[in-house]
Formats: sequence, C-alpha cells, structure tokens
Amino acid sequence: MATRIDQEYQDLKRRVHYFMVERLDEEGVDVGKTGRDSLFSFVQNQVQGFVSQHRLPLSAQDLALLTRETFDEVAGFGPLEPLLADDTINDILVNGPEDVFIEVAGVLQQAHTRFIDDDHVTRVIRRILAPLGRRLDESSPMVDARLPDGSRVNAIIPPIALDGPSLSIRKFTQKHLTAQDLVNSGSMTAECLDTLVSLVEGRRNVLISGGTGTGKTTILNLISQYIPRDERVVTIEDSAELQLNHPHIVRLETRPANTEGSGQITARELVINALRMRPDRIILGEVRSGEIIELLQAMNTGHEGSMSSIHSNSARDALVRIETLLAVNGYDAGERAIGRLIGSSLDVIVQLSRLPNGRRLVREVVALKPTADDPYRMETLYHAELAQDEPAEPQVEGVPG
Ligand SMILES: Nc1ncnc2c1ncn2[C@@H]1O[C@H](COP(=O)(O)OP(=O)(O)OP(=O)(O)O)[C@@H](O)[C@H]1O
Ligand SMILES: [Mg+2]
Repeated sequence: MATRIDQEYQDLKRRVHYFMVERLDEEGVDVGKTGRDSLFSFVQNQVQGFVSQHRLPLSAQDLALLTRETFDEVAGFGPLEPLLADDTINDILVNGPEDVFIEVAGVLQQAHTRFIDDDHVTRVIRRILAPLGRRLDESSPMVDARLPDGSRVNAIIPPIALDGPSLSIRKFTQKHLTAQDLVNSGSMTAECLDTLVSLVEGRRNVLISGGTGTGKTTILNLISQYIPRDERVVTIEDSAELQLNHPHIVRLETRPANTEGSGQITARELVINALRMRPDRIILGEVRSGEIIELLQAMNTGHEGSMSSIHSNSARDALVRIETLLAVNGYDAGERAIGRLIGSSLDVIVQLSRLPNGRRLVREVVALKPTADDPYRMETLYHAELAQDEPAEPQVEGVPG
C-alpha cells in the first residue's frame, strides 16, 4: 500500500484537499448523492487541473496516489481507507495524526499512515460515526459502535483523551477461522480440539480466558459449533460478533444509553431475560460486570454447557477477576460462599495466549475440581508445548491488558 509520508507531499495533499472541498461546494456536488464513479472522475479532473495550474512536477505514480488519497478523503474515511480495504489487517489503532498502528498476523506495527492534524482525525471519526447515528462531542466524548460490515469502532476525544482524539477499529473477519485453520496454523493441536469438543458435547460450563485480541471470540464461536442441533441457545453480546451456525438460536445485543442518557439495556438484564426464554445454554460474549452473578447461577441451575469469555492472563487470574466482579457488583456472600459459587459453577477454563512472535494459541485447558478445602483446585486437561527456542509470553502481574 504505497503512500508518501514526506512533508512536501503531505503539504500538497492538504492544499489539494482544501481546494477540493471548495470546488465541490462551488459546483454544488452532493457527495452523498453522487455515484462513486462520477465522483471519482470529478476528483480526478480537479486534481489534474490543480497540478497543471500550479505546474507541479509530479510523476504519474504520485499523481495517481494524490488522486486516490483525495478521493478517499472526500468519499470515504480518508487515510484509513487503504487500511480498511486490506484484509490482512485485523486492528487499526489511531493514537494521533502521526501515530497509527496496525495489527497484522498478531504483530502490532506502525503504519505509514498520516493525518494532517488532530482535527483531521476527529473529522474522519465523525464521518465514520455519522451514518450510525452516534454523536461524539464534549458532552459524549466516547463512543463504542459497530460499522455496517460488523467491524467494531471505539472513539474517544478530549478532554477525556488527554493527547488528542483516539480511534480503535477491530475489523470484522468475514470468514471465521475454522478448527482446521487453527490446527494447521499451530494455534491448537488436534488433541486440544478433541478435548474442547468433548467438553462442549459433555455440557461443561466453559470460560475462555485471554488478553485483548488473543482469539477469545474466535474460540467461543468455534466451540459453539459443537453444541448439539436440538438444543436451544441464547447468545448475549455487547456487539454481536458470534456467528453460530446453529438452527435454534436467539441473539441478543446490549444497548448503550441514548444521548439523553436513557434506554440502556445491560448484559445483566439480558442474562436475566434469557433465563425466561427457556434456553438450554447461554452464551455470553464476554463477562465484564455484574452479569457474572446471573451467569454463574444459570450455570449452576439447569443451563449446563453455558459459555463465556473473560479478559485475563491466566486461569488463576480469571478466578480472581470473577471474585472482584462479584464483589464490586454487590454479591457479598462471604469468601467461602463466593468460592463455592465459582467452584461449583465453572467447570473449565480455556486459557489463550499470544506469544511475542505473534502466534496465538490455546495455552492450556484446566478443569476446576473443587474440594472442601480448595474451591479452585485445578486439573490440567491440556497444555501447549512451545517450539524449541520459541519465546514464551512475559508473565504479567495483576490487571491484564
Ligand atoms: N489463532 C489465531 N490465529 C490467527 N488469527 C487469529 C487467531 N485467533 C483470532 N485471530 C484473529 O485475531 C483477531 C482477534 O480475534 P478475536 O476477536 O477472537 O479476539 P478477542 O480475544 O475476542 O479480542 P477482544 O479482546 O478484542 O474481544 C481476529 O481478527 C481474528 O480473526
Ligand atoms: Mg472478543
């Protein structure tokens, strides 16, 4: 994806962009109502005109680049367009106008993408959010939204973001990785897959644990395919990502508060509602808050085989995280009762990890086998072997991230 990041070209791009905005205005072109092809021709002609009028010595290649980037600016999401179109990119993270990172094959790297300034970043963010009916301004400075193609977008601007507007996009992957893909790419062994399948078929309550982008949703989606066809499944997510290929499924999605601050529907309310829908199993996309209470109770009372994911770096951390979530959400039954609730509800924790070389893998699968003394006694069902001299992930203490 060729671009030029030198100052001279960036200055030219800015001048051409301003020029284009004026020309569109003068000619009364309504960008939203003009077909892409005619809009492209218009931009192409105008850029050519500008370049010859100012006698700019541009190569044919740079002229084409300038035309495309100006078009992206007018019709699309500016500098983000090529990144959005590139299927090898999973995440796009804009920390500032000159600070854009992308994640490719598990590895985060800096992109050769430049915005003009903070205002330019904010304009692009607004353009992304406008068709979604979401606003972003000082009174609601952060937005979490989903694009029509399923990609997830989070934007946050000053004064909450201290160093300028920031944008995070997790692109939607059209084709979910299959079990075979994961086995082939070394993310799990065939033995690990067998273990997971038998846990799902055996109606074990499963929690997938891992850091950001380690593949929690991917694995949850994958193992859910093994839920027997005659069972009724209710899924609950903050932004629907799961694509279960299952005949008997009801999908629920939480809703953020509207601009007046009302109308919010939380995951906790949805779990409670799901329990009234006679599900065999509940699949909660990710445990983040008070819904853990109802989820654990559901796991304990006739909805065996329920599943969820949680953000944590080890199976032990996941348990500590759940304890914390229970405590801060008002479940104060005492330490022993909390241990009992967790130990008797959860059957299995599947720990995912991302190694420094970018490899994502199922690191271990542990079963919880509580005893009277130790509600969190664990038995290892599967443990991944790393290749010789493959560096292990650093051990992070405390809060995952
Ligand atoms: N084992 C894998 N190998 C390669 N790519 C993977 C693997 N697992 C997931 N991915 C890709 O990584 C990206 C993140 O995966 P996924 O959404 O499943 O992670 P997550 O842990 O749920 O992330 P988040 O913390 O943001 O919820 C996706 O684009 C997905 O296709
Ligand atoms: Mg996820």
